[in-house]
Amino acid sequence: MLNTVWCESFRKFPTGFKFGSSTSSYQVEGAWNASDKGESIWDRLVHTNPKLIKNAENGDIAADSFHKWRQDVDIAADLGLNFYRFSISWPRLLPKGLTNEISEHGKKYYNNLIDALLEKGIEPVVTLYHWDMPQILQDLGGWTNPLMSDWFAEYARYAFSIFGDRVKTWITINEALVVCDFGYNSGVLAPGITEPTLAPYLCNKHILIAHAKAYRIYDEYFRPKQRGRVSLSNSLLWIEPLTPSDKELAELAREHSTGRYSHPIFSKKGGWPPSIEKVMAEYSRKQGFNVSTLPRFTKEEIKMMRGAYDFYALNHYTTRLIRPAKPGEDPGIWFITGSPEINGVLVVDPAWPYGESRLLPLYPEGIRRQIAWLMKQYGNVGFLITENGYSTSGSRLNDEDRVKFIRDYLEQVLLSIWIDGAKIMGYTYWSLIDNFEWMDGYSTKFGLYEVDFEHPERVRTPRASAQYYANVIRTNSIDSDTHQDANTLRRFRRKETENVASSYSGSPIAVSLCFVIGFLFVTSQI
Ligand code: BGC
Repeated sequence: MLNTVWCESFRKFPTGFKFGSSTSSYQVEGAWNASDKGESIWDRLVHTNPKLIKNAENGDIAADSFHKWRQDVDIAADLGLNFYRFSISWPRLLPKGLTNEISEHGKKYYNNLIDALLEKGIEPVVTLYHWDMPQILQDLGGWTNPLMSDWFAEYARYAFSIFGDRVKTWITINEALVVCDFGYNSGVLAPGITEPTLAPYLCNKHILIAHAKAYRIYDEYFRPKQRGRVSLSNSLLWIEPLTPSDKELAELAREHSTGRYSHPIFSKKGGWPPSIEKVMAEYSRKQGFNVSTLPRFTKEEIKMMRGAYDFYALNHYTTRLIRPAKPGEDPGIWFITGSPEINGVLVVDPAWPYGESRLLPLYPEGIRRQIAWLMKQYGNVGFLITENGYSTSGSRLNDEDRVKFIRDYLEQVLLSIWIDGAKIMGYTYWSLIDNFEWMDGYSTKFGLYEVDFEHPERVRTPRASAQYYANVIRTNSIDSDTHQDANTLRRFRRKETENVASSYSGSPIAVSLCFVIGFLFVTSQI
């Protein structure tokens, strides 16, 4: 009995833990040319190079959230969400990218959405850049142009000034790693440019500076009155060594992937991760350059970026293993197949299952290990999981596989909280409704709600996972079946010894007690 009570609490989230769900402007809004909206780089890509997208689909109408936003708000309320994370389409608000021309229509759309959410008691969590840059700024170089950081900062200032009285959680940039590394290395995302030598690193530098400038503006001019918080959402690919001898390489790969987008902001020292500076200097020399292709920061830039956060926002989907490239082997594209820079090849454990997306094998423990690594690198700075999701295909409402995904990943989040002592503020399921999944078009579906893209009304229907997630939110717990508790504890114990964070102290005493009691209970059953 005692065990049941303790372990039920073990499967519960702390009081105040927040649950949300997310979408992004280009993926759901549609209305790509409504009123005075400017063209975005995604509008341009899908219209000029449709072959890049499965079935030549595009986001012209998408889930039509521009017209059906009330339905989205109702869905969020039906689920009982504490917050809804959506993004602002930069060219919808500022058709020419700059603040000298403002769209009243765009402003009204986001005001309506924000107000309707608040009326239902749902907090709006707003992302400023989820990949739909005004094309006009791309024509001037986009993220490879250092001036982009000022243009972005002015856009952010404007958004803070008109929405900040009601929006208290801001994400400046969504997944800079994907924008810069995947974008320029593969050329398959907008703006559709393949230039792996300089572009990913220029973009890396300028996008972080853009974030930091926006953060400093908020800090100085808006925080005193608005009292909100600002961060950027990093997309995190958790990387493990393939064999014990690949441990050092795996650590380098984590710095290459997560560190390059986090160290300048979250580390005590600031600037690039030192191991990456070294590797890049060597790699650049091999490529025939006299200076590193990883651009330098000035002292002022380092200072401005360091500490430009109020919490760490992470999107987590998947994990890879890494091994060194064999002699003569081409590691291919970072971060799909490997990295020529660190001479590592990424592989997938054949035992890992998949949803529909071939890019995202599942390894639930990865989220816990990733958070543990972040704590070790940057401290227990407060984490908000801003995306985590699973894809299916076709029309299917009975998505038991998605339910399992959510339960498995949330179980690991609970372990992070209760065993590793991570301060995790909330969890966001990606996504609220099916949407335009970039190169996959509408073929992969992440929604808790199915959207019928053949229907002119874009009818939304809840899946089984919507019911499950609503229950999680209502009960603040993943479930509390005692049999599962025993099994779960058995697994907890095994993972505990392997976890990279096992050196952490500070887990709440009561929970440790629960763990011990549960542990004794389980051993007594074996
Ligand atoms: C992106 C989303 C995308 C999701 C699933 C995330 O990296 O932020 O826009 O839909 O992954 O692929």
